[in-house]
Amino acid sequence: MRFASAVIGVVIFIAISGCASAADVSASQALAEACAGCHGADGVSQTELTPSLAGQPDEFVQWQLVYYRSGMRKSEVMGPIAEALSNEDIRNLGAYYALLPPPRSEETSATDALVQKGEQVALRHRCRSCHADDYNGFRAAARLSGQREDVLVKALHDFKSGKRVGSGVASMSEVTYELSDGDMEAVSHYLALRR
Ligand code: HEC
Ligand code: HEC
Repeated sequence: MRFASAVIGVVIFIAISGCASAADVSASQALAEACAGCHGADGVSQTELTPSLAGQPDEFVQWQLVYYRSGMRKSEVMGPIAEALSNEDIRNLGAYYALLPPPRSEETSATDALVQKGEQVALRHRCRSCHADDYNGFRAAARLSGQREDVLVKALHDFKSGKRVGSGVASMSEVTYELSDGDMEAVSHYLALRR
């Protein structure tokens, strides 16, 4: 008897959690429709100065939405959009974008001088120590590989000028303090072309 009710309990639990996750997926798809016009239907942006979100770490997307909502990260576009999101919406959106296939650069054999300089800048400043070996992002640190070049350049300038403040560790303002305009251009070019 006890065994049977335990089995029934497990079956009910699976049924409930199964329904819940199915609901979350459709909820986040519905939410993400409002983002697709700018960030791309597949989370890969074709819009100037607008980041691709596909394949970003769940935690990164959640934190950035929280920062926009609190005004800690300032954007006239994203501020009002994030203000309308609940914590649950933010969790669903983080999970949703993390599962989309990341942007893939068309370029296959980028070996120009700017790419080589960019790689040296990335190695010298140990970007991989936080953004992961393949620059695919880790936890609160963004995926950089395949991101739009204009977005990367803007983000680095914003961190350096103090317009954008990172998370509590403030790591990016320290990192960009040491980068020249030319370094930022080169490293962005290198990262945008990475697959
Ligand atoms: C009208 C265009 C527009 C819409 C709609 C929009 N965004 Fe954005 N989003 C932007 C722009 C532009 C930026 C870059 C702002 C900046 O430089 O801080 C951005 C930045 C972001 C970022 C930071 C990413 C990064 O790599 O730094 C996240 C996360 C984000 N948006 C999520 C969303 C979500 C989720 C939605 C839908 C609920 C959404 N956005 C709707 C234009 C838009
Ligand atoms: C000590 C850890 C650390 C190091 C080293 C580091 N980063 Fe970051 N980086 C972060 C974190 C954390 C974020 C998210 C910042 C935030 O909270 O807004 C970030 C954000 C970024 C962003 C913004 C991405 C986006 O889509 O909004 C760019 C671009 C970036 N880093 C590039 C670099 C480059 C290039 C280097 C090396 C020259 C580097 N980072 C080194 C931790 C680091």
